[in-house]
Amino acid sequence: MHLMVINASPRVKKYSNTDKILTKFLEGYSVSGNTYEQYEISARSSWDKIRAAYDTNDNILIAIPLYVECIPGLLMEFLETLSPKTGGKMSFILQSGFAEGVQLRCGEEYLKKLPSMLGMEYGGTLVKGNNFSIRLTEGKEQDSQTQPYRTMGEVFGRDGSFFSEECSKFTGPEAFPLPVRLLVGLMFRTGAKKAFTEAAASWGGTRPLDFRPYQ
Ligand SMILES: Cc1cc2nc3c(=O)[nH]c(=O)nc-3n(C[C@H](O)[C@H](O)[C@H](O)COP(=O)(O)O)c2cc1C
Repeated sequence: MHLMVINASPRVKKYSNTDKILTKFLEGYSVSGNTYEQYEISARSSWDKIRAAYDTNDNILIAIPLYVECIPGLLMEFLETLSPKTGGKMSFILQSGFAEGVQLRCGEEYLKKLPSMLGMEYGGTLVKGNNFSIRLTEGKEQDSQTQPYRTMGEVFGRDGSFFSEECSKFTGPEAFPLPVRLLVGLMFRTGAKKAFTEAAASWGGTRPLDFRPYQ
């Protein structure tokens, strides 16, 4: 089964969490002999090529990071340039920073409707959060976060969709219990804040994370 894959992150490939997720996912997808071609929405100069591939492929996967509760504006801009097709299947990976499944459900609802607007069948959405730090890690630490997507790639290679029980369970908890939510809040003010501050400094950032230049 051949798959056209679009990384819908506005971040360039090198810094994109979605890219690291796709690498593992497509490893799994390929084990049974499946093939794919991959494109990046962040490379605006390649949009003509992506449109041409969309026109000729009938099995399309769009991998999307959640940006402000829904799909990134850059993907929206690209989608508006597509012409509806007459058939084929469109499936999605929707991934985010915050870990609870409930955070991604609004975006998922939109994705359920999108394929029919483009004349295609819906192949389901693999929904998963807790991906903030993938690009801040390397080697084994990064692998431990992305490896589970390999299994999902195998499942998608087998089923051609994300409707199985395995895919639903992959999301993890829909919402954390109150004590965990309080703990996460505390972490964002302490350990996580320190880690993000260090990451920003390592990229040359000199201002505090909550710096407000327009105030
Ligand atoms: C501008 C912006 C908005 C974001 N909005 C959300 C959000 O609403 N909910 C969430 O859980 N994560 C949010 N995130 C986190 C991203 O979904 C997450 O880090 C994702 O893995 C980024 O993938 P990428 O590096 O491929 O773009 C946001 C990140 C950015 C940069």
